Amino acid sequence: MAEYLLEMRNVIKKFSGVPALRNVNIQLKKGEILGICGENGAGKSTLMKILSGSYVYGEYDGEIIFDGEPVQITSVRVAEQLGIEMVYQEINMILDLDIAENLNIGNLPGKGVFVDYKTLYEETQKILKYIQIDASPKSKTRSLNSGQMQMVSLMRAYIKNPQILVLDEPTSALTDWEVDLLMSILEELRQKGVSCIYISHKLEEVYRICNRVLVLRDGETISCNDIGNISQDKLIEDMVGRKVENLYPKTTAVIGDEVLRVEHLSIQHPAIKGKNIISDIAFNLKKGEILGIGGLVGSGRSEILGALFGQIVRGVKKDVFFGGKKVSINKPRDAIDIGIGFVTEERKRNGIIWMLSIRDNMLVANLKDLPGKFFVDEKKEQAMAEKAFTRFRIKAPGIWTKVINLSGGNQQKVILAKWLLKNLKILFVDEPTKGIDVGSKAEIYKLLGELALDGMSIVMVSSDMPELISMSDRCIVISNGKITGEFNKGEITSESVMAAAIR
Ligand SMILES: Nc1ncnc2c1ncn2[C@@H]1O[C@H](COP(=O)(O)OP(=O)(O)OP(=O)(O)O)[C@@H](O)[C@H]1O
Ligand SMILES: [Mg+2]
Repeated sequence: MAEYLLEMRNVIKKFSGVPALRNVNIQLKKGEILGICGENGAGKSTLMKILSGSYVYGEYDGEIIFDGEPVQITSVRVAEQLGIEMVYQEINMILDLDIAENLNIGNLPGKGVFVDYKTLYEETQKILKYIQIDASPKSKTRSLNSGQMQMVSLMRAYIKNPQILVLDEPTSALTDWEVDLLMSILEELRQKGVSCIYISHKLEEVYRICNRVLVLRDGETISCNDIGNISQDKLIEDMVGRKVENLYPKTTAVIGDEVLRVEHLSIQHPAIKGKNIISDIAFNLKKGEILGIGGLVGSGRSEILGALFGQIVRGVKKDVFFGGKKVSINKPRDAIDIGIGFVTEERKRNGIIWMLSIRDNMLVANLKDLPGKFFVDEKKEQAMAEKAFTRFRIKAPGIWTKVINLSGGNQQKVILAKWLLKNLKILFVDEPTKGIDVGSKAEIYKLLGELALDGMSIVMVSSDMPELISMSDRCIVISNGKITGEFNKGEITSESVMAAAIR
């Protein structure tokens, strides 16, 4: 048995001449969990896509040694035969297939040429039970929430009994208890001698589960340490290439008069008749204020934003007052016309046009607000896009790069930039830094702080406790459809928020 189960040596990968991986070396031992950390665009996903056979040899350089033998991973199939399974960063499921089919895709149990549906559904039932999803194997995948889909993706890899399991940002859509479940599954696999590669921006998870942690920066291996031998500060420094002094830059907000007031907001459950997700709540928002909304994942926080933005209308009752005047918001356009923007949690639902460039995505929704009313002022447009591109430190060759070619975190930055280019009065953000690396997080916090200082009001749903605590001027907490806590800056602590969240 070789010392390492897997080695990747001197890996180089370019996209249209632009290097994404310059020279990467990684080693993976049998039965260990190796964390990979690095900023958005560092090359983590690209490296793992090479390992899992998404790029064929010739599209990259370097050697892969599996169990002491050089191997050529020429397709996903070859990777699978070696026992390498990858769970991708973006959920890739066919929403109109049922859960059982998605779980077993490419692997359907057969009876001759026919699929053995009885076995399929029985096996799926067991797996759903194991991951505590209360749904029929026959229900459409669409009916699952994103956390559940993520767990199903994990099980899709798990049931193939991999030797190496690669997880790319597996927890970005998971609730706390799902994260615990994932951790216990990984622990069980480790006991069985399975090796795992764990990519995450959440350093606490890396410290919780990994044996070693490797840092990639700009497509190069920077360091690799036993988890006990590297402090969090050092890890961040390795990732960013400089010290991150202050993750939560403090701006002193000047809070003005009420700009938005919501009364009698109720949202019906879409599937369960007579049940409300949100029952008759009221709150307000002041000028220059960052209002945090805390609560457990699934407590209806995103739905509150969706309903106020006119994205969810069925089963919604609300009285909304903008600047003291009653307004009706029945579609997103109504909200946008008032000056409300919305950065939703799921990238795919954010109106990003994948085949367009960064620049066009930033500007497309903005045509109405662009300088020069009747004609498009190319120069100004260009300048605006360039400025946002630099300000957000978007890692790409240039503003003409297609969004589909960006790393996950950089796509998120384009989405934020797109809204921030508009002249908004109110911005709704739902988990704004999901999938974003530490350095850029600080950047985004600084931006949100500056916008508030300029008089914009922000409503921020966040499950990231430090983020909620440090960014909110005031915070309301949702549980069981009601507001169960309201705290001013200084009173917002993990304890106070959690206590209200489980009330
Ligand atoms: N198909 C592609 N075409 C062109 N460039 C690409 C493509 N895929 C990735 N890149 C570029 O390669 C670099 C590395 O991207 P990668 O997705 O590996 O980053 P990452 O470390 O996974 O980042 P994140 O934390 O944001 O997920 C980025 O600059 C990205 O824009
Ligand atoms: Mg990635």
